[in-house]
Amino acid sequence: MSVGIDEISFYTSNYFLDLKHLAETHSIDADKFYQGIGQEKMGMPAPDEDVVTMAANAAFPLIERVGTDAISTVMFATETGIDQSKSAGVYVHRLLGLNANCRVVEMKQACYSATAAIQMACALVARQPEKKVLVIASDVARYDLDTPGEATQGCGAVAMLITANPRLVELDPEVGNYTEDVMDFWRPNYRSTALVDGKYSTKIYLKSLKMAWEHFREVSSLAFTDFQHFCYHLPFTRMAQKAHKHLARVNDSQLTPEELDQQVEDTLLYNRIIGNSYTASMYIGLASLLENCKQNLAGKRIGFFSYGSGCVAEFFSGKIVAGYEKCLHSNKHQTMLEARNAVTYDEYLSLYNDVDPTDGGEHTKAEGTTGRFRLAGISHHKREYIAC
Ligand code: CAA
Repeated sequence: MSVGIDEISFYTSNYFLDLKHLAETHSIDADKFYQGIGQEKMGMPAPDEDVVTMAANAAFPLIERVGTDAISTVMFATETGIDQSKSAGVYVHRLLGLNANCRVVEMKQACYSATAAIQMACALVARQPEKKVLVIASDVARYDLDTPGEATQGCGAVAMLITANPRLVELDPEVGNYTEDVMDFWRPNYRSTALVDGKYSTKIYLKSLKMAWEHFREVSSLAFTDFQHFCYHLPFTRMAQKAHKHLARVNDSQLTPEELDQQVEDTLLYNRIIGNSYTASMYIGLASLLENCKQNLAGKRIGFFSYGSGCVAEFFSGKIVAGYEKCLHSNKHQTMLEARNAVTYDEYLSLYNDVDPTDGGEHTKAEGTTGRFRLAGISHHKREYIAC
């Protein structure tokens, strides 16, 4: 029996800032963003959107198909949780009308935790193959204004069904891990924006890739040449291109730079116009590959590198299932991305500055989302979510 990803759906806000406006404001060349970091647009959540509403929007199409009673466990991965105690997934459980006998838990390790959730979901399904686990990754990437990280913000959520005999990707049980206590990117409880040692974080990312890969090679019989495509964690798309060349060097690969770029390019298309979505980034990259690759991917082996600052990294692998193209939400995703609204730099600032009130009063949230679920208000420190 195989276990893996049966269905994948993602969601992002209907607002984005074209990075040329950020470049104009800072009097720098837009190509620094378009080419230097490989980002064109960054998603900005509406005032009535957060990780919960994005997650419910991402998961809704999956629940519409399998029904509300089909899910035995929800694992909610996020770096930008909205409560220190209550799992964001419990709100999603109600919004989606899931069964009261479904367990829900939130997981954290920067951008890595969705991968831990998937591996744990695979273990649950291997034990009880009739179960379906819903893994959701949802994040709003926020850095301080006028910092190098500002251009790498974004927002998005991805929902995946983990089942036996999956219709999209069969995941291999062997994985390579790497953990090291480092301070490359972190966010103390009292901050709403991340702190980052940017250049150092890119170095640690590459070091972790090498270390996780070497561990993977110890436990798996698969070699670099067995993979046709690679999905990397995508803080910005240039990072994946650099990482892939780094991995190729580690393996003395004879592939040309163009051939190496082809192994990652289809994974980058959505993230380039959404921005970083932390836990969701690599899996939105997987959706981008499945939905945009011109070749038939059936039977092809994919390498995955998941990285969470701080840091925990994992290299794992999977095989694309024949007929996968019939189980995708490509049209829905492309329609959503095309229908988004560009905001001006001033509108971006006002979305950026629309932070949650902390005074315990009664606050309604301005309407802005075009999604199915919204954060209607925050009253007496309680978040009030509704379906539109
Ligand atoms: N045309 C084309 N390219 C240009 C250019 C122009 N006009 N001007 C500059 N560039 C290039 C530079 O040459 C450079 O390319 P190389 O890296 O190939 O040398 C690139 O644009 C970036 O420019 P800088 O070197 O000046 O870097 P920066 O000050 O803009 O910072 C960054 C880049 C450190 C990544 C910063 O965006 C940052 O701190 N981001 C947040 C942290 C991050 O994403 N880290 C990634 C690893 S950690 C992780 O993965 C977890 C996570 O999700 C956060």
